Amino acid sequence: MSLRRKILIGSLGVASACGLLVGQSAAFAAPPPQAAHGQGHDQASASLRDLAAHVGLRIGTAVNTDALASDPAYRTITANQFSTVTAENAMKWGPLEPTQGVYNWAPADQLVAFAQQNHQLVRGHNLVWHNQLPAWLTEQAPQMTPDQLRAVLKKHITDVVSHFKGEIWQWDVVNEAFNDDGTLRDDIFLQKLGPSYIADSFRWAHEADPKAQLFYNDYNIEFTGAKSNAVYAFVQQLKAQGVPIDGVGFQTHLDTQYGLPDLQNNLQRFADLGLNVAETEVDVRTTLPVTSVEQSAQDAGYSQSLQACLAVRQCISYTVWGFGDAYSWVPSTFQGEGAADIYDENLQPKPQYFVLQQDLQLASGAPHRSGIGAGRG
Ligand code: XIL
Repeated sequence: MSLRRKILIGSLGVASACGLLVGQSAAFAAPPPQAAHGQGHDQASASLRDLAAHVGLRIGTAVNTDALASDPAYRTITANQFSTVTAENAMKWGPLEPTQGVYNWAPADQLVAFAQQNHQLVRGHNLVWHNQLPAWLTEQAPQMTPDQLRAVLKKHITDVVSHFKGEIWQWDVVNEAFNDDGTLRDDIFLQKLGPSYIADSFRWAHEADPKAQLFYNDYNIEFTGAKSNAVYAFVQQLKAQGVPIDGVGFQTHLDTQYGLPDLQNNLQRFADLGLNVAETEVDVRTTLPVTSVEQSAQDAGYSQSLQACLAVRQCISYTVWGFGDAYSWVPSTFQGEGAADIYDENLQPKPQYFVLQQDLQLASGAPHRSGIGAGRG
């Protein structure tokens, strides 16, 4: 048996065990549309956002603002299925401030207006990240003094958070600051400012919008290990120092070849620090073309990640990183991989969509997450 196959089978076993978390397992159900027969028309066609509302959970998607402007089917699904939206790119520093001091607010503003029209909350993504920085900053930063870079960073955070003040539910203040081995990422902010840039960023964001929930967001912290442990210790320290951090975002970019994480344990231990948690960028990629075994593993990835969130009361939102394979970031980022989303290339729902729908239908025993910000808006 190949190693790859062993990993897959291992991951399915984990998913099966996790099915016990919130009642019956839907991990292997992967029901096609017709499997909803017998459940009544309303249940079968119920949207993800309506089903999740029964337990106070927000279901979100990353939004491609170009597609939102040009593709009516994309708009309809975004409005009907989701109760939060995240700008996939439009709120990042590079797209927002391509020329120093000249902001391009329009795409992000249009998304915020769309969200308000559709009674959706907005996750702001993101304020500080080593990627997608403006070219002017990447060019100038190495020559800046620490004081100069600190001033530029503070201005960025203050300008952006102030612009959207009152309109953002959760901000990803700092994104991907850790390496997989648990050390801090050696980016320009760490090099010039030292680790204190992280606490400072949270303080500046809080000053600009005291009501926004402020999150640290990262990938590969779904699995217990060096990175998750390091982020855990770091946010524990931030809390102890009185830094205004409200939550931790688990990106949850899963891949069938790496098995499934012990996500519920990780969500719960961060929640036990007095933080909210969220799954912020869920997708489950696989090698193409998709085999039936891989598809089962994808179904399990969606099911287990949603069930983990449902089981933890402080898990206030579950966001997919785009809903349609037609617009997914995966094929251009991971060679030979794709099919990571819950709708296909033609924006038709895939088995993964029905897995989420079924898990939400079965989730009436999950703790209700009212009173911790989940119901705002
Ligand atoms: C990705 C977008 O999906 C792409 O369109 C863009 O080209 C690169 O960034 N982690 C994050 C997201 O926090 O911002 C990334 O989004 C995916 C990985």
